Amino acid sequence: MPAQPSRILFVCLGNICRSPLAEGIFLSVAATVGADNRFAIDSAGTGAWHAGSPPDPRSIQVAARHGIDISAQRARAVSAADFENFDLLLGMDRSNVETLIGRSTARAEHKVHLFLEYAGIGHRDVPDPYYGGADGFETVYRILHEASEALASKLGARDVSAPISGQASSIT
Ligand code: 4NP
Repeated sequence: MPAQPSRILFVCLGNICRSPLAEGIFLSVAATVGADNRFAIDSAGTGAWHAGSPPDPRSIQVAARHGIDISAQRARAVSAADFENFDLLLGMDRSNVETLIGRSTARAEHKVHLFLEYAGIGHRDVPDPYYGGADGFETVYRILHEASEALASKLGARDVSAPISGQASSIT
């Protein structure tokens, strides 16, 4: 096991709206400090209804507006192997977390967390934008961007020229 978690699975319900965005945004944030190659990032859904599908066009669009291309992603369902193969399984909402805990072995339960809480920005859900309009996707984008920056910082993947909270950098 590495010192810092580096294999991260972002999880939502359908794997077409929130978690594909989280995957793309986190990689983009890590890439701004040249740290994207330190991570193995993927996303999955607790449901399999959309398996094999590209992300929702509204997610593709909001990502593209912010310079991120998520169009090549394909949805898949969470598998038993994911609990072994990833260091962290980060659910977008409490229902995702509950489902993950229910499917986890006792050994892997410590890997399952609520994304925003693990990132340190509060015990909050990323709202499901599926049944809403385009602004819901922009809101989700902003939340995920803030959380991705906080997560990257927590995992030591941040800009050494911009230390957070005045801490000295320890990036090597
Ligand atoms: P996601 O959004 O979990 O963020 O991918 C949803 C996608 C599809 C459905 C619900 C939520 N659905 O009911 O099909």
